[in-house]
Order: sequence, then C-alpha cells, then structure tokens
Amino acid sequence: MTYLAPNSVQARDIATIVHPQTNLVRHIAEGPMVIGSGHGCYVYDDNGTQYLDTAAGLWCASLGYASERLAKVAYEQMRKLGYYHLYRGTTHDVAVDLAEKLLSIAPVPMSKVLFQCSGSEANDTALKLVWYYHHAIGKPEKRKIIGRRMAYHGSTSASISASGKPDMHADFGLPFPGFLHTEYPHYYRHHNEGESEEQFATRMADALEQLILREGPETCAAFIGEPVMGAGGGLTPPATYWEKIQAVIRRYDMLFIADEVICGFGRTGNMWGSQTYDLQPDMISCAKALSAGMQPISALMINERVFEAMLDESRKLGNFAHGFTYAGHPVTTAVAMETLRIYEDMDMLGHVQRVGPYLQEKLGTLADHPLVGEVRGVGLLTGIEMVADKATRAQFDPGRQVGATVDKHARKHGLITRFVGDRVAFSPPLIITEAEIDEAVTRITRAMDDTWAEVR
Ligand SMILES: Cc1ncc(COP(=O)(O)O)c(C=O)c1O
Repeated sequence: MTYLAPNSVQARDIATIVHPQTNLVRHIAEGPMVIGSGHGCYVYDDNGTQYLDTAAGLWCASLGYASERLAKVAYEQMRKLGYYHLYRGTTHDVAVDLAEKLLSIAPVPMSKVLFQCSGSEANDTALKLVWYYHHAIGKPEKRKIIGRRMAYHGSTSASISASGKPDMHADFGLPFPGFLHTEYPHYYRHHNEGESEEQFATRMADALEQLILREGPETCAAFIGEPVMGAGGGLTPPATYWEKIQAVIRRYDMLFIADEVICGFGRTGNMWGSQTYDLQPDMISCAKALSAGMQPISALMINERVFEAMLDESRKLGNFAHGFTYAGHPVTTAVAMETLRIYEDMDMLGHVQRVGPYLQEKLGTLADHPLVGEVRGVGLLTGIEMVADKATRAQFDPGRQVGATVDKHARKHGLITRFVGDRVAFSPPLIITEAEIDEAVTRITRAMDDTWAEVR
C-alpha cells in the first residue's frame, strides 16, 4: 500500500472518485497518477515530471493540451450565450455553423447532423435511429445490430452492447439480446498459414454473411464498425476487407454506421477513415478530435434516406422524441468550429500526411525487436503487438501482463502509452513533430528493452 498524505490529491481522490476502466482495489492501494498541466504533446504530473503522451489522452487531444485560441473562443461564447438548447425547434448560429461545416466535409453525401456530448451517445443515437428507420419503412422486425469482436463503440448500455469487449459486458448482464458480433480483421493474429490478406478478408466477409443467414436477413438491421479498430489495439484492416464487408451489408439491405470517433479529423491521413478505406456509410459518428478533446461534443451525421424515414415518423407520431440537454451546446459547438478552423489554418491534413509515414517508418524499426511480432499502422495510428515467439506468433500468458509491463517501463522513461492486452496503440496528438516522434520511439524502445529483460 502506497503511503499518501491525508490531504494529498491522491488521498482525496481515493476517498471520492470512482474511475472509469480502473481496477478499483488496486487504485485504492496504489493511488492515482495526478496530471497537473499540459502543453503541446506533453503532460506534467504533480511533481513536474514530463511525459510525452503517445495516446493523445484518449485519442482525442489532437492539438495537444493547451490552446489560447480555443480558450478565447470558449470564454467569448460563455459571455455571449453560455447555454441554450436545440429542443422544440430552437437553434443558435454556432450549432448551425458547425452542422454546415460537418456536412460540407463529410466523406459521402450526408443530410443532417444530430449533436450529443460523447462518442457513446452518438453511437447510441445511431443505434436508436436504425430501429426507428426500419419501423418507418415498415420493417420493424429488422432490429439486430451486428458489431465485431474487440470493437469499442462506447459505454452506454446500447453502445457497449454493439461493442465486442467481453470484459466490458461481464456482470452487467450485457450485451442486450439482438446484438451480435462477427469476426474482427486482425490479420496478423488470425490468418492461417499461407493465407493472403485478400483471402483473409474474404473469410471475414463470409463469416459475416453466414451470421446474417443464420440469424435471418429479415431480422438484421445494421452493421457498425470503426474504419480502424482503436480500442481493439490499433488494428488496420487487411487489403479488400471493407470492400467485401460493405458488399455483404448492402446485399442484405442493412444500414451501415461508420464509427469515426477515433478516425475522424485526420487520424488516418485523410479527414475521415471512410476516405482512407472507401466506406459508404449511412450514418457517421464522430467526437474526440472534433473539439480537439477540449469540449465534450459529438456529432452523428445521417444520410437523406435515414432523414426521410424520420420525417415520416414525425408525420405519424408528431414529434422526434429523442434528445440531450447539452446537444449542440453553444460553447462545445463554438470550440469545435474553431478547432476545425485551426486544422485548416495549420494544414493539419498535410502535416499528418508528412509525419504519418515518418512515424510508421520509425516505429517499423521495432519489428526487429525480440519482443515485437507486428507493427502496423496508418496515418498517425499504429498498433504494436508483443509476442512470446516471433516465429510462431505465440502469445504470452495473459497473466504476465506484458502490455502493462511495457506501460510501466514507458512511464519510467517519460512516455504515456495506451496498451490493450499485449498490444500498444500509438496515436499521438496530430501536432506531433518529427523530433518528437524520434523521442517517442527512443523511449518506447527503452521500455521494450526493459520489458524484454523482465519477461524473456
Ligand atoms: C471508436 C470509438 N467509439 C466510441 C467511443 C466512445 O466515446 P466516448 O468515450 O466519448 O463516449 C470511443 C472511445 O474511445 C471509441 O474509441
């Protein structure tokens, strides 16, 4: 048990806060890490120790940890109109500006925007709209939602049901009935000997089709997927995967939700992951980098087909009975709008297209490390998998907690990583420079060396 002074932030934290995604028993014994400030890609703990954050917080701090421009916009907006809602036909100009902007940059034609405060809520709204849509077009029996194993779409009851994370379902009595999970496209881990990426992708699409046929296509309503799986460990899809999966979705007249919560706004080297992988979704959820993580806001874009059905429901029911108090909040929308302006001013896409290949090349050198089986990524997102045996791809016993061990050593070397099992997902702030990438790679290599010395 770590000793903590009674009035320290750590002791007061333990006495008061339940932390998400945290072992609560270990937290009481060890206490929290206190982050005091941040600047650029770095955060500083309460002792002033500096950490380069290769996770951009939770994939969201695209512009790093402080911004005068965003602070000013939030301040001015709070002075002018610090709150209003969008209920019962009310609006304000900042929400309209942002909606117009999002529709103008959407990867495929989109018709309308619904605002929420988080990625979970955006996906939750999308799932409700799937059911609403099929009711509206006279197919209420089409209700089943298909997600993928290892996918993460949020923590609300429905968005976690669509996610394929058994640890997040356990003892919550989830997923809800009607949420199904198909195979996930982790080529390195799951390909058969001699199987090409294209053959593997065909197998993934066949598995999806078999699931739909088993369940009854007349009951299958929608497929939800992240262009690149983030919380699954930074998994980029194998060649032809999305083309084949989308063909199956269309064949059975299902809606397609692209979860762009991580991929949206440049992470994969294009504005949208949907552009990187040529996706044609009916709905797109986005959040995180939408406001550079500095305000809680998400958006769900829907196409005309979905909106037309919603209009029919209003004709029938008299109301679109869904919404959130803070949807389209003026401060969140103003900050998001300014974030998108900053991206344009700094040519953020051009920057990611320049430094992304550099990150992939430098992290690629880790493939020679004795601990590392796979390094694979796109844009500024890379997954690194640690293995017990490089030749056979054999995994470590989960009890050895190799990912957590890398993270422990990384902290010692001034690096914050995001690990998922025995994978490290690299997704630094989008503003990262080549010099900072060099520094991050040096530090992660040291952490890998220390881990190798401990687990070999
Ligand atoms: C792909 C994806 N979708 C949805 C979410 C949920 O977003 P939030 O935590 O803002 O609810 C996350 C969070 O990491 C995510 O990675």
